[in-house]
Amino acid sequence: MLEKIEGRKAEIAVIGLGYIGLPTAIMFANAGFHVTGYEIRRDVVEKINSGKAHIVEPEIDDLLKKAIENGTLRATSDPGEIKNKDVYIICVQTPLKEDKTPNLEYLQNAIETVAKVMKKGSLIIIESTVPPLTTAKMAELVERITGLTPGEDFYMVHAPERVMPGRIFKELVYNSRIFGGITPESAELAERLYRSFVKGQTFKTSSTVSEVVKLMENTFRDVNIALANEFALLAHQYGIDVFEAIELANTHPRVKIHVPGIGVGGHCLPKDPHLLVWPAERDFGLIRLAREINDSMPLLTRELLFNALHEANVPPNRAVVAVLGLAYKGNSDDTRNSPALAFIGAIRDDVAEVRTYDPFVGGTHKNLEAALKGADAVVIATDHTAFRSLDWEKLGMLMRTRVLVDGRHVIDEPPRGFIFRGVGRGRY
Ligand SMILES: NC(=O)c1ccc[n+]([C@@H]2O[C@H](COP(=O)([O-])OP(=O)(O)OC[C@H]3O[C@@H](n4cnc5c(N)ncnc54)[C@H](O)[C@@H]3O)[C@@H](O)[C@H]2O)c1
Repeated sequence: MLEKIEGRKAEIAVIGLGYIGLPTAIMFANAGFHVTGYEIRRDVVEKINSGKAHIVEPEIDDLLKKAIENGTLRATSDPGEIKNKDVYIICVQTPLKEDKTPNLEYLQNAIETVAKVMKKGSLIIIESTVPPLTTAKMAELVERITGLTPGEDFYMVHAPERVMPGRIFKELVYNSRIFGGITPESAELAERLYRSFVKGQTFKTSSTVSEVVKLMENTFRDVNIALANEFALLAHQYGIDVFEAIELANTHPRVKIHVPGIGVGGHCLPKDPHLLVWPAERDFGLIRLAREINDSMPLLTRELLFNALHEANVPPNRAVVAVLGLAYKGNSDDTRNSPALAFIGAIRDDVAEVRTYDPFVGGTHKNLEAALKGADAVVIATDHTAFRSLDWEKLGMLMRTRVLVDGRHVIDEPPRGFIFRGVGRGRY
């Protein structure tokens, strides 16, 4: 296997061609490996094979086209086409169920598919983020289906992904990576494989350590954002601007307060803290409380909006509200768990009309001016770069009432003539 990997002769199947799987498949294909992408969504398969990506990401179209034209990447929905591969890289989603427990159905189905087509000696790599102990359990599942012994007849690794959408192709190369094997040999093989394009540091460990490391990283961020959000709530009490206070606090050499806002979204941050504590036998208060604080931020933004409408003498049930941004983060088209959607859900029944505009996602209105025409309030829910340099004095002329709520700190100086509120921006 090692010779095949070093000689770029190992045949690779990537299971699940989403935000993580497609870029990963492209990287291996452009590093010289033959890659088959297996994806259950036929529309996605067709699009990829025609050389077009179904996700928005800088550089992706050129890099995908190159791999397709070189013949090193092909997508399929036929499990027969991923038979007897040397390496299987699993990149399926691992969301939460309604009750906030992990939904591991996608992962289990992917593992079952792989177990049915793999060969003795295959290397299975899970890139999906999973609860602690899952990789070992999935190795047992493969053993039950195939009769092969984990670590002897096949190799298995958890190799978590740390990329940030918008910077995926840079971070895939330069981020450091962890390879958690069910055996040291498994980790060694995966590390050698990824060294074909990774220039960052690489580390080997056990699969459970690797699972915990990935989840700790996102939990660290979630808890710190919750703390910043709590500081924002305090700033409203004391009538100060939390961003000024944070900037000054961060001049301390050992302080790095995160950024407060309308909430935390995306596929990962809202779910990973739940994955981390789920298999544990006792409860973990701080991690759960942080989740609750972050989930409550769209409701704070609702409070800011209604407070400003009250000052403007507009009854909420007559208010036309334009929400700018649907994606969970700036310059992305990803709306998964977006706080913008949670915010809209929280106001929809109480206002006359909700309009939405997002240059990456779409929305009820295709252009900003149309969304603002005759509106009573505008709420910024995503920090798209384009929202940072808007001419508010001009846009305000289109509006019926000039209420502006900034959920993402994209506005430094409240524009003249507006009733302004912002998360963490003083008393209201
Ligand atoms: N998106 C990120 O920024 C990011 C960052 C780090 C880690 N992760 C983790 O990576 C994993 C994948 O995330 P994503 O954002 O790429 O998800 P995604 O939803 O964009 O992609 C998953 C893809 O897998 C396909 N799929 C589901 N079940 C399948 C099966 N049995 N066989 C074949 N295809 C199947 C889906 O149709 C989908 O296209 C998750 O565990 C996530 O937590 C994501």
